[in-house]
Amino acid sequence: MSKATIAVIAAFSAGAGAAATAAMYSLRSSDKKPEIKTVQTSTLSTTAIQPPFAPAPVPVSQVLSQTSIGVPTTTPASTGLATNAPVNPAGLFEYGFPGPVADIASRSALISSYDRQKKNPHWVAEHITPASLAARDGDRKNSAFLEDPAVPEKYRAKLKDYFRSGYDRGHQVPAADCKWSQGAMNDTFYLTNMCPQVGEGFNRDYWAHFEDFCRRLTVKYPSVRIVTGPLYLPRRDPADNKWYVKYEVIGNPPNVAVPTHFYKVIFAEDGTVGGNVAIGAFVLPNAPIPNEKPLADFEVAVEAVERASGLEFASKLPVQRRRRLCADTSCSIVVKEYADRQKAFAKGGQQQGRLTPPRN
Ligand SMILES: *[C@@H]1O[C@H](CO)[C@@H](O)[C@H](O)[C@H]1NC(C)=O
Repeated sequence: MSKATIAVIAAFSAGAGAAATAAMYSLRSSDKKPEIKTVQTSTLSTTAIQPPFAPAPVPVSQVLSQTSIGVPTTTPASTGLATNAPVNPAGLFEYGFPGPVADIASRSALISSYDRQKKNPHWVAEHITPASLAARDGDRKNSAFLEDPAVPEKYRAKLKDYFRSGYDRGHQVPAADCKWSQGAMNDTFYLTNMCPQVGEGFNRDYWAHFEDFCRRLTVKYPSVRIVTGPLYLPRRDPADNKWYVKYEVIGNPPNVAVPTHFYKVIFAEDGTVGGNVAIGAFVLPNAPIPNEKPLADFEVAVEAVERASGLEFASKLPVQRRRRLCADTSCSIVVKEYADRQKAFAKGGQQQGRLTPPRN
């Protein structure tokens, strides 16, 4: 078994106890990736709803000309039969392209891609530097959680979905990474930057220490990029020995999926153009994790996160510029500072799931 596979198993077991069966992503070298040209959108407006990574709704005429079936561009969908084919599936697009649409929101603090089906982000990307973390102009006391207008209403995660759910509104890009301006901090409070996270033992504890680890990387690396998001991993049901994905859905009616795991893919840059990039990928279960558990136990291969999420990271980074983060630096959490905050939070008597504790 590869190290990465073991790590994913460890990550799963940490939260689910001895009876847990593991979520495994085989890392055997896979079929060669086909060359796929992704459409890139270079300009993203603040509340862009454009899906740069999904095909934009394509006029049927264009689709048809691309497939070179030779259908007249004016052929209506209802009658559009190719001269040499009895059907015209692309005629559907005249009525609309089904998607998926990934609701990219590009804000000063972060860029997020949203999963309309699970009402969670797919990923949220941020950038931290020593200077960005040194500036202190934002305070989370002045921010409020917001439903995101960048997502059409019917697909939105709602504040009421989280209310009394028992889960924290867990920041993917942490508020504490965006103290450089109040506006940037506010950006992190959109629900498109949130996932339901177990509060005690995870969001308020181990996950917070993990976020702190990311910030401490800026002591060594002048520029650190982090992509964070949820996973929904299968586990084996002991009853029939088959693999199932099981996750809670919160809200009434049910709306927001509760991820089983979270990932971070970290790009620690050496600060030179074309320089080395130390990459670390981590998968943690959405469950209490004892502080004693080494962070390195949760390290996985980037490819494991890619398989589990369906996403792609660093596909354009040449191999010779890649380093492994946990070989380049020590991957470990520091606990003390947050333990005190946790105590202060407990004294406040706030109910889990109603308020995310102040831990910036
Ligand atoms: C931040 O959010 C708060 C609460 O929604 C709002 O009152 C304030 O104006 C925002 N500040 C900035 C700088 O956007």
